[in-house]
Amino acid sequence: MRRRLAAALAWLWRYAVAALVLRASRRRTGYRERELPASPRAETLTAALLFAACLAGLAFVAIYAFDDANTQLLGLSIAVALGLIAAALILAAAAVVPQETLEEERPRFADPEQEEAPVEDSAFALREGIDGVTRRRLLGAAGAAAGVGLGAAALVPLASLGPAVGNRLAASPWKDGVRLVEENGMPVKADDLAVGSFLTAFAEGADKEGLATSLAVVRVRPEELELPEERADWAPEGILAFSKICTHAQCAVSLFRYPLFAERSPGPALVCPCHYSTFNVLDGGERIFGPAVRPLPQLPLRIEDGALVAAGPLSGAVGASWGRVREEG
Ligand code: FES
Repeated sequence: MRRRLAAALAWLWRYAVAALVLRASRRRTGYRERELPASPRAETLTAALLFAACLAGLAFVAIYAFDDANTQLLGLSIAVALGLIAAALILAAAAVVPQETLEEERPRFADPEQEEAPVEDSAFALREGIDGVTRRRLLGAAGAAAGVGLGAAALVPLASLGPAVGNRLAASPWKDGVRLVEENGMPVKADDLAVGSFLTAFAEGADKEGLATSLAVVRVRPEELELPEERADWAPEGILAFSKICTHAQCAVSLFRYPLFAERSPGPALVCPCHYSTFNVLDGGERIFGPAVRPLPQLPLRIEDGALVAAGPLSGAVGASWGRVREEG
């Protein structure tokens, strides 16, 4: 009886010591138990986030193709795609990635009897690590879709360097017979333009947001003109029209400098307020200052019933040099 009691006390003692050692070691190493296996719900949510990222990437492509002037939407779509991928990665790292069971090096017990095999079927029984991912194919497909969406969003802007987009940028409403109208749709009358004045005009019936639609119309004295021979009849009564889009970075050319005292001042010029590219209107829009490298495209004009009408297309590609630079040289 005494022996049994002593054995029971010894077992209780070992149990208590083992419990204390285990608890102390957990505190020291900061070990925390994690739920295994990974939650199938987390896997589904991760896949959903990745598919949503794919859609956001494809939305970027669609916006680029059909409304590339909307930079806010472009930025928003790519930000959403990256945010969703980040959320998916965080969730996967926290709840989906397979758990590992590692053995940690420990000092040996002084008493060899305390190094018995782990106690099975007790509060300290080790739980086995298992493969935590149960929907590999779904997650793989979602990851591939997110990669395709994001990759497409990254590659599609390269099309801006090619001729296909250049052609789209080159789309212009200007051709022989198109009337110039003001913002309210009223025809631009030649008599309404005084020497030294500046007016923004649009192609009648065209989308005012179109890159090539808007014009800067100015008037100088006819005797001041120094137009090339082939443009001699492009400026009736000294009225000239140029694309309003700066050839540097596509800001609106919105300033017209017209000297009141010609002997002491530089000549008439259109000026872009963004980086001060300056274009000489007298010789057909050649750049005379600033970072732009191409002249402003000029529109040939004629006057019909007192109103300004295009006498042909613009003289060159509208917009910055990255648009059709490969075609125009
Ligand atoms: S955009 Fe006109 S000077 Fe830069």
